[in-house]
Order: sequence, then structure tokens, then C-alpha cells
Amino acid sequence: MLALSTQSADAAVKFENIAKSSLSTNEEQTDYDDVTTYNNFYEFGTDKRSPAKLAHRMTTRPWTVEVSGECEKPKTWNIEDILTGFQLEERIYRHRCVEAWSMVIPWVGFSLGDFLKVHQPTSKAKYIEMRTLYRPEEMEGQKSGLFGSSLNWPYREGLRIDEAMHPLAIFAVGLYGEHMPNQNGAPIRLVVPWKYGFKGIKSIVSVQFMEEQPLNTWQEQASREYGFYANVNPYVDHPRWSQASERRVGTLFGREPTLMFNGYEEQVASLYSGMDLTVHF
Ligand code: MTE
Repeated sequence: MLALSTQSADAAVKFENIAKSSLSTNEEQTDYDDVTTYNNFYEFGTDKRSPAKLAHRMTTRPWTVEVSGECEKPKTWNIEDILTGFQLEERIYRHRCVEAWSMVIPWVGFSLGDFLKVHQPTSKAKYIEMRTLYRPEEMEGQKSGLFGSSLNWPYREGLRIDEAMHPLAIFAVGLYGEHMPNQNGAPIRLVVPWKYGFKGIKSIVSVQFMEEQPLNTWQEQASREYGFYANVNPYVDHPRWSQASERRVGTLFGREPTLMFNGYEEQVASLYSGMDLTVHF
């Protein structure tokens, strides 16, 4: 049974009977405190520590996710029906930010492909676009001029449909066996472990099947620096810094080499065969 949720943060509410996934890494997990206090969630400021301080202001109940666009069965879900409607698993994934730090996070989530298929996408559905909640009264960073952030809200992200259907792509609803802390994207966020963290859009309120490739927030903001694909690639540097190595948050060691597709090359490389990854970065 899932515990009934309150108006605010879901954190510390435990999930029960979560299956363990064979797709998990057995690398050492990043401490809970680091995972939940070192965040990028610009809706709550650009400082890594701000989301943990301010995200409790976001109301996560009631919460709906509207699925629309090129599909036979559009639907607006209550989050409760998502939490009980799909097989939740623990997926321990490497998490690599474009800023060249990384973590290992035990997510609780379910297959994005399973979720999408329920809506019966049409043959025109070549992409999906997801959007984050827009609620400036609860999200300080969405008020113009604050924190020096000028993103065009709401935060948007996209995936090609075959990427979205890949077994490694999940919607995550928790971490460390508990409901998702607000600062990590409660109550539901995307996790695509072979891509840079900015693809992992938080606090999702809509999913749209599209025929054309959508424009994601960071690509719109700085297209020379952030592309649509955002695949982790140590051979294609960010224009302002190297992507060849990374700092594992919370460890005392130096930097470690970044792996192609964040270590998921065997599973995902075929999605990009024949593509020039220096162009489609
Ligand atoms: N989603 C929204 N809505 N707003 C954001 O600012 N930041 C992205 C991504 N999703 C972001 C977002 C970036 S840059 C990263 S690295 C990851 O969230 C960070 O996820 P974490 O804080 O759970 O580690």
C-alpha cells in the first residue's frame, strides 16, 4: 500500500515492495545528503544549495500529468493512478551532469516506454515533449529577474520516440526507496541515464507526442552549447569546458574518466548509428 500523501513534500514516505532491476549499476551510491542538497532546479535558483532550501514551497498534491498530441488515447492522469498503475523498480543509475560532476543514484521509477504505450502513439509520433510545472508563486526562480536566471519557462525537454521507448529510460517517482524529494523533481521526473542530467526534466505536468522535433529549454537558451541529444560524450567537449572527465560528488578521489554514453554504450549506441555526434550533440 502506498501511504496517503500530504499537501507538500513527499520525501520520507517509503515505497513498499519495490522490485530490484537487473539494469542497475553496482557502483557505490552517492550519499542521500549529497543527492538531496546538491541540485540543479533553476525554478528555485541557480545555486546548487537553493533547491533544498526552497523547493518545499512547491505543492505536489493534487498533481496531474496531461498526455496529449499524436496518440489514440490522450489522458490526464492523477499522480496517484500513475504510482499504482505501473511496476515500480529500483534503478541504480550513473547520473552525469553537463557541468562535469556525477553521482550514482538509486531511483524508484518505471519504464517510460510502458507509460507511453498506454496512450497508443500514432505513426506520426516521432518525438515527445515534456514540460515542468509553471507556478511562479511557488517557484521563486520563475519570477523574472530573480537569481539572474532568464530561462524561458516552463522548462521543456524532448526525446526521440525510440529513445523514449528504450528500456533504460524511466519516469522516476522516488529515490533511496522514498517518494521523490521536491528538490529532485517531485512527484515525477525523467531519468535517461546515458544523457546529460539536463535532459532529466523535473516535476513533469505534461507529455505531448509530436511529429516535429521539439525545442528543449537549454537548446533554446544557448544552442551552441546544448543540443537536442545531450548524449554523454567524452569526445565532444562543451565549448567552455572539457567533457573527458568528471568529479564524483561526495568522494575524495580526483577526477575519473567519463565513459561514452555514460557507460551505457552497449545498450544505446545503436540508437545513433550513422549519426555524426559532433553535429548532433
Ligand atoms: N528540470 C527542471 N524543471 N529545472 C531544472 O533546472 N535542471 C536539470 C535537470 N532537470 C533542471 C531540471 C539539470 S541541469 C540537472 S543536472 C538535473 O536536473 C539535476 O537533477 P538532480 O538535482 O536530481 O541531481
